[in-house]
Amino acid sequence: MGLWEKYVVPPLVSCACSTKPIMKQRAKVVPRARGKVLELGCGSGTNFDYYSQQDVERLYALEPSGGMIKRAQKKAEALGWRDRIEFMEAGAEAVPLEDNSIDTVIITFVLCTIPDWEGALSEARRVLKPGGEVLFSEHGLAPDEGIAKWQRRIEPVWKPLAGGCHLTRDTGQMLTGAGFALEGMETMYLPKTPKIAGFVCWGAARVA
Ligand SMILES: C[S@@+](CC[C@H](N)C(=O)[O-])C[C@H]1O[C@@H](n2cnc3c(N)ncnc32)[C@H](O)[C@@H]1O
Repeated sequence: MGLWEKYVVPPLVSCACSTKPIMKQRAKVVPRARGKVLELGCGSGTNFDYYSQQDVERLYALEPSGGMIKRAQKKAEALGWRDRIEFMEAGAEAVPLEDNSIDTVIITFVLCTIPDWEGALSEARRVLKPGGEVLFSEHGLAPDEGIAKWQRRIEPVWKPLAGGCHLTRDTGQMLTGAGFALEGMETMYLPKTPKIAGFVCWGAARVA
C-alpha cells in the first residue's frame, strides 16, 4: 500500500462520503436494517449514526482497510455502541460468516469500489437468511449519454485518486445480474454535486 492509500485516501474518502446530500441518501436505507446486520466496506463508520439501535441485534462491520477500521471503532465508541459491533478486517469477496446467518446486508457507496463485486454479491447471497434483505445506496453510471461519456473519460484518473472508486458501475444491473430481485429502486442526481459522481440509486433487493 502506498502513502497515498495509507494516509490520504481514508480522510479524503470519509470527507467525500459525508456531504449533506450523501448523508440524506444514507438516511433513506440504513434505518431500515434489522436483526443481524452485515455492512460491506463500512469505511470510517459514517452509517453508524443512522442505524436503529433498538432494531439491530448485532452489526458485523466488514472493512479491509485497517486505517478505516480504526476510525470506525472510534465512531462506535463515541456512540456508545461498541459492544454490539463486531469489526472484521476482510474484503467482501470472502465474508467470515456462516451461510444463512444475516437478516440485512447494508451496501452504501462501496459497490463502486470493491474490485471483485461479483464475488462480494455472491457472498452477500450466501450469508443472507431466506427472506433476508439487501439495502443499498450507491452512485454510478448516469443514464444521460453526455454525462456517461465524461464518466468513462475521467474514471481512469479518478479511480487511483479515490481509493479504487469506479464512476461507471451500474448498481441495478449488478444486483439483478447477481441473482437479486430489486424492490423499488429509485434514482436521481444529487444536488450540489458534480453529475459525474452524483447519479445515485437506492432501494432494497432480495434473493430472486
Ligand atoms: C467510498 S468508501 C465507502 C465507505 C462506506 N461504505 C460508506 O458508506 O461511507 C469505500 C470503502 O470500500 C472499502 N473497500 C475497498 N475494497 C473493498 C473490498 N474488497 N471489500 C469491502 N470493502 C472494500 C474501502 O476500504 C472503503 O472503506
